[in-house]
Amino acid sequence: MTDRDYVLGTHDEEIARLGLQHRVWRTPAIECWQKAGVGRGQKVIDVGAGPGFATMDLAQIVGPDGEVFAAERSNRFLAIATKACTERGFTNVRFCNMDLMNESLGVTGFDAAWCRWVACFVSSPATLVQRIADALRPGGVAMFHEYSDYRTFRFTPRRPALESFADEVMASWRAAGGEPNIGLDLPVLLPAAGLRVRHVRHHIFAVTRQDAMWQWPTSFIGINLDRLRELGRVSAGWVSEVRQAFQDAEADERTVFTTPLVLEVIAERQ
Ligand SMILES: C[S@@+](CC[C@H](N)C(=O)[O-])C[C@H]1O[C@@H](n2cnc3c(N)ncnc32)[C@H](O)[C@@H]1O
Repeated sequence: MTDRDYVLGTHDEEIARLGLQHRVWRTPAIECWQKAGVGRGQKVIDVGAGPGFATMDLAQIVGPDGEVFAAERSNRFLAIATKACTERGFTNVRFCNMDLMNESLGVTGFDAAWCRWVACFVSSPATLVQRIADALRPGGVAMFHEYSDYRTFRFTPRRPALESFADEVMASWRAAGGEPNIGLDLPVLLPAAGLRVRHVRHHIFAVTRQDAMWQWPTSFIGINLDRLRELGRVSAGWVSEVRQAFQDAEADERTVFTTPLVLEVIAERQ
């Protein structure tokens, strides 16, 4: 793992997976932005933007008079995001390569900040939240989608090997300094940073093999098994067992997958 990498990696398969993940979780994201009042002409930060999938949706929403400031640690993700924005003709996106544990966002007076699945990977979520608060104008909004109970990740009929996979995913994030269930801490961290919580809700889905969202566990499990092996955390035998359990789940018409529980929070800078 390089210093600009994150626990899930920055390789091509992870970029494609993040694209798929954005497509399946896009509707709740857009609804959150609407609820928070993100609109034309606004200045919005995409915190830990990854390869820029949400960035481009935000750029479209704020339009040419608005601006999206996309902050991201991985050079590789930023290169992909910059190319995609250029190809799609977005001139209202500013990219910044930064490690938010080492430096502040370096902008102020923004109307909104979007932070999805980033707080769970950083060593100090309190620092991250403070940096987001500092970049907003009074009345500006911080919007989060973070896990608050990762272990709602389950298959019915029960598949113990897939449950041990979810446990291992959580352990690998913790070993890299993150906390999968960081959503639980947000209602405490936000007021401490001067952000008043205005709205909370959960997102959780029960998914069958026919649903479009089924692609999400399919890609996540496939790619992360390789990643856990690459990190040297698991044995080849364990990986085969988990792959077999997922194949069994896919072959079983009774299968229902429950997604990890995501907490949505919208908070306003005082
Ligand atoms: C699961 S990805 C989510 C990407 C994007 N927010 C999304 O929803 O598609 C987590 C992202 O957080 C970034 N990240 C993790 N730690 C970071 C840090 N300290 N500073 C900046 N970005 C960071 C990673 O590089 C990665 O792009």
